[in-house]
Order: sequence, then C-alpha cells, then structure tokens
Amino acid sequence: MMNRRQFLQTGSACGLLLLKPSTAFSYQANSAVRLGLLGCGNRGTTVSTSFSKSTTAQVVALADIFPDKLALGRSHFDQLNAGLGRASIDSKLLFHGPHAFEQLVASKDVDLIQISTPPFFHVHHLEAAVAAGKHVYCEKPVGVDIVQAKQALEIAKRVKPTQSVDVGFQCRSAPPIAAIAEKIKAGALGKLGSVAGYYNAPASEEKVHPGASPDEYRLRNWLWYRALSGDILVEQNIHIIDLCNWMLGSHPLKAAATGGRNILTHAGDCWDNYQVDFTYPDEVHFAFASTQFGNPGFNAGLSLYGGNGSATVPYAGPVQVTGSQPWVWQDSMNTTAPPAKFAANGSFEDNLKFADRDKERTFIDSITSGQCHNQIAAGVETALSCMLGRMAGYEKREVTWEELLANGESYKLGMDLDQFA
Ligand SMILES: NC(=O)c1ccc[n+]([C@@H]2O[C@H](COP(=O)([O-])OP(=O)(O)OC[C@H]3O[C@@H](n4cnc5c(N)ncnc54)[C@H](O)[C@@H]3O)[C@@H](O)[C@H]2O)c1
Repeated sequence: MMNRRQFLQTGSACGLLLLKPSTAFSYQANSAVRLGLLGCGNRGTTVSTSFSKSTTAQVVALADIFPDKLALGRSHFDQLNAGLGRASIDSKLLFHGPHAFEQLVASKDVDLIQISTPPFFHVHHLEAAVAAGKHVYCEKPVGVDIVQAKQALEIAKRVKPTQSVDVGFQCRSAPPIAAIAEKIKAGALGKLGSVAGYYNAPASEEKVHPGASPDEYRLRNWLWYRALSGDILVEQNIHIIDLCNWMLGSHPLKAAATGGRNILTHAGDCWDNYQVDFTYPDEVHFAFASTQFGNPGFNAGLSLYGGNGSATVPYAGPVQVTGSQPWVWQDSMNTTAPPAKFAANGSFEDNLKFADRDKERTFIDSITSGQCHNQIAAGVETALSCMLGRMAGYEKREVTWEELLANGESYKLGMDLDQFA
C-alpha cells in the first residue's frame, strides 16, 4: 500500500480532504478561476484560450517580457472574453518586462498562473508562483538541466495541499491515449519486451523582430538554443518519452545515444536528430529516434511490443492493440496516416484533438473540488529522463540514472534580462 509520502510523490491527487475548497483557498466554488497567463506566445495563447472555452477559468491578467507580445495577447483575450460575455482585461493586470512574472504572481486578483515562458525560466517562475500560493499550470519541461530539476523537487515539497500544480503533458489526457494506456497497464500485451518511439517534426521558424539586439534575437528564437530550450529531446520529444515512462511505470535506468546537427544551418546549438537507446527495468529497451528539420509534417508516436500483443500509440493514425486481446480506438481508424495535421501555434488535431480540453477540465476540477494535484515530481522525472538521453548523446557514452543525478549540469542564460526593462 502507498504511504502518504509516496502518494504525494506520484503526482496523484493530494487534496486536503477535510477542508472545503472555499476555506482551503480564497477561491470560491462556482465562481470563475481567475487565470493569469505568463508568456503570451503561441502555446500560452492556445492553452489559455482552451481553458477559457472548455472550463470555468477566465483570463484576467497577462504578463510577458516583451510589450509587443503583451499587446497581442491583450487584443486576443479581450476579443475572446467579449465573445464569451466576459469583461476585458483590467489594464492594472497587464505586466511587461523582466519582473512581470513577480508582479503577476503578487496580484490578489489571480488564482491560477499559467507558465508558458521558454523552458529555461519554468522553474524560476514556478518557484515564484508556488511561493505566492497560486495554483499553477506549468508547461513542460520542468527544468532544462539537473540543477533546475533538483530545485523543482524542492519547490514540490513547498506546494500546499490546497494548491494544485499541473505540468503540461496533455498527451496523457487525449482520450484514445488514456484508453490504450489503461489497456496496456492492465496487461493487454502480456510481458513487455521492447518499445520504439519516434518524433519527426518540422524545423521551427525564425522569429524576426525589427531592431532586435543579439540577446533579444536569442530570447525570441529560444527554441534554437540549448540553454533556453533544453534541446529538442528535452523540449519537444519529451511528450513521447513521458508516455513511455507513464505506460511502463518507471523512468529509464540508463541510456546510450547518438545524434547531431546534420541539416540545420541557422543560429543556435540544438541538435536536429537524436537516436537513443533507453534501458528500463527488466531489460526493456526503448529505441527512440527524432528529427526536427525540413517540413515532413508532424509524425510522433510510440509502439509497444509484448509477448501477447503489440500496441501503436501515434499522434495521428490507428491507436490499437493487436494480438490476443485486440482493441481499437474507432475514431483513430478514420484518420489518414501521418504526417499529421499540426499547427505551429501549439494546437493539435487527430488523436490529440481533445487532449488539452480534457487535461484542463481535470485540472480545474482539482481546484474547484479541493482534490489538488502536485505533478511537479512526475514532471521532473520525465525531464530528467530526457536529460539522460541528452547527456548520453552529447558525451557519446552510456549514462546511468545515478550518474545523471550526481552531475552538476547547470545551463547559463548568458544575458542580463534587465536590459528588457
Ligand atoms: N505542451 C505542448 O504540447 C507544447 C507545445 C508547444 C510549446 N510548449 C511549451 O510552451 C512554452 C512556450 O512555447 P511557445 O511556443 O508558446 O513559445 P513562444 O516564444 O511563442 O512564447 C513564449 C513567450 O514567453 C515570453 N517570454 C520569454 N521570456 C520571458 C520571461 N523571462 N518572462 C516573461 N515572458 C517571457 C516571450 O516573449 C513569448 O511571448 C515552452 O515551454 C514550450 O516548450 C508546449
């Protein structure tokens, strides 16, 4: 049986069951959860829009380091709020500059902070939001390096039972993926032998801003830089590695990897391809390969092979189990084969169509019911799994989980954000 400590660490519900939500937190049941968006970019805007349309959350505040991004966010959410019969955003709740996140988390008019800034800042912003007593929806990855990952684990311990913190692994909530995961965990494949995964994505597009200094260029094109993004394995491929960890119920014990930068010629230092062999308990190997260049469409997924059957879990295409306990997600049989439909604005279609909606509904329910989540440790476990593959690739050697944790890897931002004040 799980003890309370293990229970908290699994990232499962952690509500203080004896307190009513209204007593446990200033939030009143049946009133809108007041959401403050930190990072008014592509994904942040998509997720806050989805929160607004799918849940009782209402976007009441915005923050971004850059005034132009804040202004775009304001016009988008004022229009959205008007369409939903809600008030426009109070100008007192619009913050820009490097300290915008501090002003946002200090606001008494905000219940929930959505952290949608570049990965380098997630843990710093999470720390501030948790310390301010807010509920938090934090995008993946939880940390770009080992020092940040360990900091996040300390922050996780400071989350009050009345605070709910989710990490942006929405793929787990996609109905077809949630359903097949249940089958796999119930043993539909028999003894698991091996797993294969892939993530082939288009190159990210350059963001040009007139008059931008080299630092500003780097910040706006953060996807291209290891320190800001964590590299493609940690920033993007993490979704598939998270699904593997989740379905196998474990993190990898070691990894060997290759990869490099064979096609990309633009600025930055991220690799454009990885091939990783992760070893999980019981000698189960997970062969993972990814690319991020050209425009191949968007093709990502996982295949699991067991003694009694196998399963395919793609972003687009058949989600099914074949073998002694065959099963299909009927809607997925009608989708065309990959490359999948994918919008660069961070919204997904095909098998992920309802992933955000369902993730957000469950999260808001956790707040309104007082059955709070604390997903930080689970988010860190997946981020570290990706860092394991990244370190094995960079160092061209096998790296164990213990070696990873003992490593002091710490990325430097390499710029003073106060220049954007
Ligand atoms: N869960 C998913 O499927 C998914 C999909 C896409 C992106 N993401 C994640 O969402 C996050 C944002 O990605 P995006 O594509 O929206 O990027 P983006 O560049 O479009 O948006 C980031 C925003 O943050 C702002 N910003 C940068 N530094 C800041 C700081 N220090 N303080 C305040 N604001 C700051 C930028 O000005 C920008 O508006 C990333 O962590 C990314 O990994 C998740």
